[in-house]
Amino acid sequence: MISLITGGAQGIGFSTAQHFVRRGDKVAIMDRGPVAEAREKLGSDVLAIEGDVRNPADVDAAVALTIETFGGLDTVVTSAGIVAVEPAFDVTAEAFMDMMAVNVLGSFLPAQRAAKYMSENGGGSIVFIGSVYGSVGAPKRTAYCASKGAVHNMMQSLATEWGPLGIRVNAVAPTGVRTPMVQDLIDRGIYNLTGVRNRTPLGRIAEPNEIAAAAAFLSSPESSMIHGIVLPVDGGWIANGYTW
Ligand SMILES: NC(=O)c1ccc[n+]([C@@H]2O[C@H](COP(=O)([O-])OP(=O)(O)OC[C@H]3O[C@@H](n4cnc5c(N)ncnc54)[C@H](O)[C@@H]3O)[C@@H](O)[C@H]2O)c1
Repeated sequence: MISLITGGAQGIGFSTAQHFVRRGDKVAIMDRGPVAEAREKLGSDVLAIEGDVRNPADVDAAVALTIETFGGLDTVVTSAGIVAVEPAFDVTAEAFMDMMAVNVLGSFLPAQRAAKYMSENGGGSIVFIGSVYGSVGAPKRTAYCASKGAVHNMMQSLATEWGPLGIRVNAVAPTGVRTPMVQDLIDRGIYNLTGVRNRTPLGRIAEPNEIAAAAAFLSSPESSMIHGIVLPVDGGWIANGYTW
């Protein structure tokens, strides 16, 4: 398969790229971060594209270059994303708009551009990286929760429109994952690791490869009848409404 992964320079996107390389995919990563360093770790067959998912021209270029280089495109995983932790009173209009631009528009554009190609070339599959916070709210995460709820709902709309075109569309909803994003929040003292572990029946946060495995499943023929779903990868976090 031929895959394009946004946010592939680190975290969940990088781990997904590793997984897809291992399964034999031709892999392109797109990121505004250090793509060359990621490519060094992933292998020289990987196509590393620098670009911003908010920018339609960058996304067009990434999709076109992937198709031109590898001769097609079967799968897109959208993992580029940002988080912010601050009281709702303090969220500026700019910060809110940027969250929506990166997490929502930045997921939509790669999916849209790829789906246009897929619709004329035998179909494909799109996997959005959502979040458990796309399904429930949380204090100090208003903009983030709004963006992830939008991703989940957008995924459902796209599934209705693109399913008949042979394009499967799904989302993965991780709990906390041990990535640079979460490590940064832990380092800044604004991530309640103990609280997350206590709420999670499996007693821990996830490793990036556990999210990659779910994205791999949803993008593969193994999930050929799975369409329009949000797959939580959360150790039971959503299932547990009990406060410790
Ligand atoms: N880590 C978690 O606990 C967790 C939990 C649930 C959902 N998620 C979601 O998973 C996705 C990946 O998160 P992560 O933990 O791997 O984060 P991360 O910060 O470790 O990696 C995100 C990557 O996206 C890239 N990126 C950000 N904005 C971009 C832009 N405008 N254009 C191009 N690239 C951009 C960054 O450069 C980075 O390489 C995000 O959408 C995040 O919301 C993460």
